[in-house]
Amino acid sequence: MSKSSFDIQALTLGDVPAAARLSADAFETDRQTEMKGSGKEPYDLNKHWLESLPSLLRNPRIVILKVVDEASGDEASGDVMGYCIWGFRGFQPEEMPVVEGRSHPPADASPAKPKDKQESSADPEPKPEPEPETDPIKRLEARTSADMQAWMAEAMPEGTRCIFVVGLSVSPKYQGRGVGSALLRWGTRFCDDNGVFAWVQSSEPAWRMYGKSGFQVIRALDMDLDEYAPMPPPNEGPGAKWGHYVFRYMKYLPKKR
Ligand SMILES: CC(C)(COP(=O)(O)OP(=O)(O)OC[C@H]1O[C@@H](n2cnc3c(N)ncnc32)[C@H](O)[C@@H]1OP(=O)(O)O)[C@@H](O)C(=O)NCCC(=O)NCCS
Repeated sequence: MSKSSFDIQALTLGDVPAAARLSADAFETDRQTEMKGSGKEPYDLNKHWLESLPSLLRNPRIVILKVVDEASGDEASGDVMGYCIWGFRGFQPEEMPVVEGRSHPPADASPAKPKDKQESSADPEPKPEPEPETDPIKRLEARTSADMQAWMAEAMPEGTRCIFVVGLSVSPKYQGRGVGSALLRWGTRFCDDNGVFAWVQSSEPAWRMYGKSGFQVIRALDMDLDEYAPMPPPNEGPGAKWGHYVFRYMKYLPKKR
């Protein structure tokens, strides 16, 4: 299949089980995911996406794109080869791009939820100090999530219009054929057409691919996985280490048309 022939469509609710499985397979060799899977309550990526994708599909400011293997005639498996979740910031639902297969805006888009009472700044009740976290994986998640919050506050202040990659996975069976870059090209074209930037928090293995799609590293978070690991990597011999894992925040700036 030539790189330019991918047909990009909207992921649907019926694709969710295949997409969740695909992500779990794609991240199987991701060092951070492997390490998180070695804990007492192993991180289950398949379950995570099975639970998250349906609500993401209903979110009016999310577009989930897929590439299906529909190569030629009998050889086409109909498999979802890869999918990408794009988030939109500062766009009204009616300004969202139209994608084949996605209702516009999603028919069951629920209105923004009212602010949780506990989040209200007017709430006078003092909150108890949180207990120090003892689960090392939860400490890792708290560290990465705090860093993400800091990045978002800096990169997307009030009033910013931009798009961002919430998730990108290509099935190991179909990697290296241009599926990932085709899914990114959809977003970078949108950026060029609308004069907005895109950003991603890249996984360690994917940052070179984002670089090839025009994204540049702006900030990095270097995590020593062994500081957070519940155990050394199994089946890798004595003294084996998980090693460092670098999250890179990368930006694509629109090209002037
Ligand atoms: C990263 C990923 C999405 C790439 O998808 P893909 O369809 O295999 O990528 P493409 O075939 O479009 O590759 C585009 C270019 O990036 C390069 N590339 C892809 N993965 C790469 C890697 N891990 N390291 C270095 N280069 C890579 C390709 O060689 C290709 O280069 P070329 O244009 O010079 O030929 C896929 O490998 C994947 O799902 N990985 C696991 C999940 C993950 O980390 N997702 C990213 C979350 S932020």
